[in-house]
Amino acid sequence: MIIEPRMRGFICLTSHPKGCEQNVKNQIEYIKSKGPIAGAKKVLVIGASTGFGLASRITSAFGSDAATIGVFFEKPPLEGKTASPGWYNSAAFESEAHKAGLYAKSINGDAFSNEIKRQTLDLIKADLGQVDLVIYSLASPVRVHPTTGVTHRSVLKPIGQTFTNKTVDFHTGNVTEVSIAPANEEDIENTVTVMGGEDWAMWMDALKDENLLAEGATTVAYSYIGPSLTEAVYRKGTIGRAKDHLEATAFSITDSLKTIGGKAYVSVNKALVTQASSAIPVIPLYISLLYKIMKEEGIHEGCIEQIQRLFQDRLYTGEAVPTDDKGRIRIDDWEMRDDVQEKVAKLWLEATTETLPEIGDLAGYKNDFLNLFGFEFAGVDYKADTNEVINIESIK
Ligand code: NAD
Ligand code: NA
Repeated sequence: MIIEPRMRGFICLTSHPKGCEQNVKNQIEYIKSKGPIAGAKKVLVIGASTGFGLASRITSAFGSDAATIGVFFEKPPLEGKTASPGWYNSAAFESEAHKAGLYAKSINGDAFSNEIKRQTLDLIKADLGQVDLVIYSLASPVRVHPTTGVTHRSVLKPIGQTFTNKTVDFHTGNVTEVSIAPANEEDIENTVTVMGGEDWAMWMDALKDENLLAEGATTVAYSYIGPSLTEAVYRKGTIGRAKDHLEATAFSITDSLKTIGGKAYVSVNKALVTQASSAIPVIPLYISLLYKIMKEEGIHEGCIEQIQRLFQDRLYTGEAVPTDDKGRIRIDDWEMRDDVQEKVAKLWLEATTETLPEIGDLAGYKNDFLNLFGFEFAGVDYKADTNEVINIESIK
């Protein structure tokens, strides 16, 4: 079949196996071009198939020759239906890792569940003995709580009052005003349950209890702050409460890892086009203006550039890990530069359907969005018939 992008709302229903493979290969080439990193050798990545988690897996494997276990929740291909992009990404990653002589195995299922944790612990025990780095990079709208069985759904809402601001439909380029009614207490609790730190702590407790963490093991989860423009819907909204909880959890995990000299960090990353972020109102308009400015300044980064810098310049320098006054690693430093934010704030006031193609990087946004699903990569023949069913080598 010839695979083309088929959009529904904020998602694309199709994905291209060759394009996803090209995406992974490009990221591997980038990491190789930056030279070796004195990083961890046995790495567990939870949320390893797309976005920052995939970039973390690639950086570990191809920057530090690490053995990696990746956990993710993706749809395999079915008769006449493409897999989700993270499936193809992981298939390509494993194939490239194995070709390079690197250990790589994957587990596809719900990382919030006891069963998937059990499978992962058993695999570490059998194959790696222990891990020295755990990356926690889940982005999910829903979590079935493993002890209560209750399904929690996260929401993206402001807290306290209705938030009204501009937003863009990045498919059409239409800039409109959006109003989002405030969350209630239950919304806040649910969002914290899904995207806060409880599950991260459960993973780390389980690993530690079974002696699967090496001496000095590190764990890193990802957070976001962003500017005042998006504050009401992001950092001071429901998702922000979850990030507050995640950031606080880093301290309790560090306490629990004292006996093995381990440490938990939160890294605050840059706003980027991922499946998760394109569903948040207001954020796509902010990102399209931000991209324009950061590209002009020559400081634009994607997930792979961000994570390469996190590992090379923050985590594995051989010196103490630099953090802000709240103990967080900051790789959103270029996004948050005063000059960058001043320019974005000015463009924000000017942004309309008519001006955006000129003053914002809507084309860059769309391109990155299509890239997530394996479309628009140079070197891929999108006219070719692609009938192969792509498997992930370690998943039977
Ligand atoms: P993403 O959607 O690209 O990746 C999410 C990953 O989680 C995928 O591997 C997916 O398979 C996996 N996943 C989701 N639900 C799962 C489940 N139940 N079980 C197992 N795996 C599951 O998202 P992303 O943007 O890379 O986000 C990762 C983290 O980075 C999040 O904490 C996010 O808040 C944070 N972050 C994102 C941005 C941004 O702009 N995108 C910025 C800063 C921080
Ligand atoms: Na991820």
